[in-house]
Amino acid sequence: MSEGVQTSPAFAPRVFSGIQPSGGLTLGNYLGAIKRFVQMQGDAPGETIFCMVDMHAITVWQDPEALRRQTRELAAGYIASGINPARSILFNQSQVAEHAQLAWIFNCVARMGWMKRMTQFKDKAGKNAENASLGLFGYPALMAADILIYHATHVPVGEDQKQHIELTRDIAAKFNHDYGVDFFPMTEPVIEGAATRVMSLRDGSKKMSKSDPSDASRINMTDDADTIAGKIRKAKTDPEPLPSESAGLKDRPEARNLVNIYAALADISVDQVVSENGGQPFSAFKPKLSELAVEKLAPISAEMARLMTQPDEIDVILRQGATQARTIAAPILQQTYDIVGMVR
Ligand code: AMP
Ligand code: TRP
Repeated sequence: MSEGVQTSPAFAPRVFSGIQPSGGLTLGNYLGAIKRFVQMQGDAPGETIFCMVDMHAITVWQDPEALRRQTRELAAGYIASGINPARSILFNQSQVAEHAQLAWIFNCVARMGWMKRMTQFKDKAGKNAENASLGLFGYPALMAADILIYHATHVPVGEDQKQHIELTRDIAAKFNHDYGVDFFPMTEPVIEGAATRVMSLRDGSKKMSKSDPSDASRINMTDDADTIAGKIRKAKTDPEPLPSESAGLKDRPEARNLVNIYAALADISVDQVVSENGGQPFSAFKPKLSELAVEKLAPISAEMARLMTQPDEIDVILRQGATQARTIAAPILQQTYDIVGMVR
């Protein structure tokens, strides 16, 4: 567990996180999420539980065959990056029905006003919010259920998920208060490192995203070396050379993004990147970044491709993970039902 992370003494430490199988994995997912999941798998004292949240994915339309393929590809991405199914629980959300069952209870705890404030809903629903699915609106209650059905204490995520984790705490607090119990923990988000918000390569004010219509805006984990180099070469920058101190990156979002990506890939600090490269033009820095990105990502994408030739093995791993997950989730759901007053 990282230093400075507070653990509620009443709850054993347990890590949970999820990623939507709604498209290919991006460098943002890798640096902001999966790379840090792998670190926590090694460091965290309790269980580490990682999920492909397929029920979240269908809050917007997904072609069924594509969803199945993307779920397996995401599982391959987790495993190729270092998530070991013998050390972590790895499964897809829909195989553990307790997530949806607890989400219903949380739909009855969360307030409309809380949901309306969620920026991800506003972004995803766009101008036509009346036409968004009810699932998209209720999405954060399902996310709270994903976390709290395991009494997870720590959730590693990118910066964009901070508001959802705060809502998870609000739901836990209201449930505990309304029923007069201390049953759900106050989960801590773990948002750390240089790459908690990897930006688009085309626009330093937008998050790198698998749903951006421009493929040049992102690096996909399945991109080959030439594609990665081409995207980095064309990445938007400003005409100034790199600064020698990180303060010089202020008001230079595109420059800062490339430096952050370098730092996160190389596992060094932003200060170290600028002190080693300060004064260089981007025409010199970009090839170094491409080389580093290819060195780090090529083995992962090769292993993903190999795993994808054996989808049945992936399915076995996910079924086993779901069985393990259910042994934790089922008793917590049952206790929740008892607290709420459901007869059994
Ligand atoms: P999603 O692909 O939206 O399901 O996101 C899965 C995980 O990746 C979450 O923890 C996100 O916060 C993280 N993530 C997604 N995009 C980025 C990004 N551009 N930078 C950093 N983290 C990201
Ligand atoms: N909402 C997250 C995202 O879009 C995905 C997610 C669903 C998640 N359930 C979760 C992340 C539980 C962490 C914990 O990235």
